[in-house]
Amino acid sequence: MSVNKEVKRVTTHTIQEMKNKGEKISMLTAYDYSIATIVDDAGVDIILVGDSASNVMAGHETTLPITLDQMIYHASSVVRAAKRALVVVDLPFGSYQGNSKEALNSAIRIMKESGAHAVKMEGGIEIAESVSRILTAGIPVMGHLGLTPQSIYKFGTYTVRAKEEAEAQKLKEDALKLQELGCFGVVLEKIPAKLGEEVSQSLQIPTIGIGAGQHCDGQVLVIHDMLGINKGFKPRFLRQYASLYDVMNDAIKNYVSDVKANDFPSEKEQY
Ligand code: KIV
Repeated sequence: MSVNKEVKRVTTHTIQEMKNKGEKISMLTAYDYSIATIVDDAGVDIILVGDSASNVMAGHETTLPITLDQMIYHASSVVRAAKRALVVVDLPFGSYQGNSKEALNSAIRIMKESGAHAVKMEGGIEIAESVSRILTAGIPVMGHLGLTPQSIYKFGTYTVRAKEEAEAQKLKEDALKLQELGCFGVVLEKIPAKLGEEVSQSLQIPTIGIGAGQHCDGQVLVIHDMLGINKGFKPRFLRQYASLYDVMNDAIKNYVSDVKANDFPSEKEQY
């Protein structure tokens, strides 16, 4: 007797059903095949190929330098690994802000060349035309409001957003607009928990928070941060689940010392 071991893919519909049932949604970033395999096997619902790759993979200070080609490279590696998770890819800075035709072309390239399942875009009403055009082509879009790192030079800092009433009001309107346009979810980054709760309750589509409190419908973290690979990065919203910097550093030091002492390879480790 053969047993069907096919894994059921998480889709945008699954994500919506999870919100409807009150089941929390887990999302983590990944940028390469090996890490994405671990993330997928661990049961994460959504893998985000974030433009945070610009920081944690390439060592840039901001997310601005990463290119569409580089995002497609990361995304295609992740897609090859993800058997269950929904794979969402960030449209990088400069690939959609110009006009809606350029935005659509960028989204099409991501979907065609990487095999990803959806794209994510930062911004609200100001990118409505682009969001709408991408959605019309049948490409699912996730929004991203609050702290939007691609606009870091406009904000000037990475501090909590929308603490003032006017900015909170704009965020609520933007969230409703993204829902009305047809986005399947919205990331809320670094905003007061109360606002995260209000937006999550007012929307029918799921919210995924990062520093937006426990009432969001799901949570997302950058994998390097939650695994403690970025030793110095410890914002309040981050829960660090491992200290991989130390684990890896110790292992590598042991390797160096074994090589220097001619202890590696041993007789059993050679042909
Ligand atoms: O690029 C990224 O990793 C993100 C998350 C922080 C949500 O957009």
